[in-house]
Amino acid sequence: MTGTGASPDVVWHATGVDRDTRWAATGLRGATVWFTGLSGSGKSTVAEAVHARLTGLGRASYLLDGDNLRHGLNGDLGFSPSDRSENIRRVGEVARLFADAGVVALVPVISPYRADRDRARAAHEAAGLVFVEVHVDTPLAVCEERDPKGLYRRARTGELTGFTGIDAPYEAPESPELVLDTDRSTIADSVKRVLDLLGGGV
Ligand code: ADX
Repeated sequence: MTGTGASPDVVWHATGVDRDTRWAATGLRGATVWFTGLSGSGKSTVAEAVHARLTGLGRASYLLDGDNLRHGLNGDLGFSPSDRSENIRRVGEVARLFADAGVVALVPVISPYRADRDRARAAHEAAGLVFVEVHVDTPLAVCEERDPKGLYRRARTGELTGFTGIDAPYEAPESPELVLDTDRSTIADSVKRVLDLLGGGV
C-alpha cells in the first residue's frame, strides 16, 4: 500500500504481530464508542461513567474527550467548519489506533458534521474494528439551561460566534446504534444501554 495526500511515496510497513495475536496474548478487545451531540448534552459525563464501569470490570478503555484533546493534539484547531473536520479526522484516527491496540476508545466530541463521523466509521470498518455511534440527543433547551461553561450565554449575546446549535449547525445522525436523552434517563441507565450495545464486543 502506498501513501496518500501529501505523502504519496510512503510505503505501508507491515508488522509481524497481527491484531488477533496481540489481543489474544494480552486479553484485550478494542472498539470505538463515538458519542456525538451538542455541547452540554452529557456526552462526556456518560463516556466517563462508561469508562469507570469498564475499568471496574477490568476492561481497558480510554477517554478521548474533544475538549481535552484540544489542549494538546488539536490545540492548533479552532471551530471553523474545516478545523472541526480536521479535529474529527484526527480524533477518528487516534480512536482507530486505540481500538486496534485493544482498548475501548470512548470518544465524546460534538462532531457536528455527518460526513466527518461517517469517515471515522468507515476507517474503523475498513480496518475490521467495531464502531458504535451514540447520539446523546439532549434537547438544545436543556443543554442551554445547563450551560456548564457559560458558553451558550456568551453565544446568545453574540460574544461567541459559530457556536454549535446557536449559529453553527449540528447534523444529527440518521441511524446511530443508540440514542440517549440525558434529560429523560439516568446516567446509570445510559451506561447500561451502552454496555448492552457493546455486548460481546467488549
Ligand atoms: S467539534 O465541533 O470539533 O467536534 P469538540 O467536541 O472538539 O467540537 O469541542 C467542543 C467543546 O469546545 C465544547 O464542549 C465547548 O466547551 C467548546 N467550544 C468552544 N467554542 C465552541 C464553539 N464555537 N462551538 C462548539 N463548542 C465550542
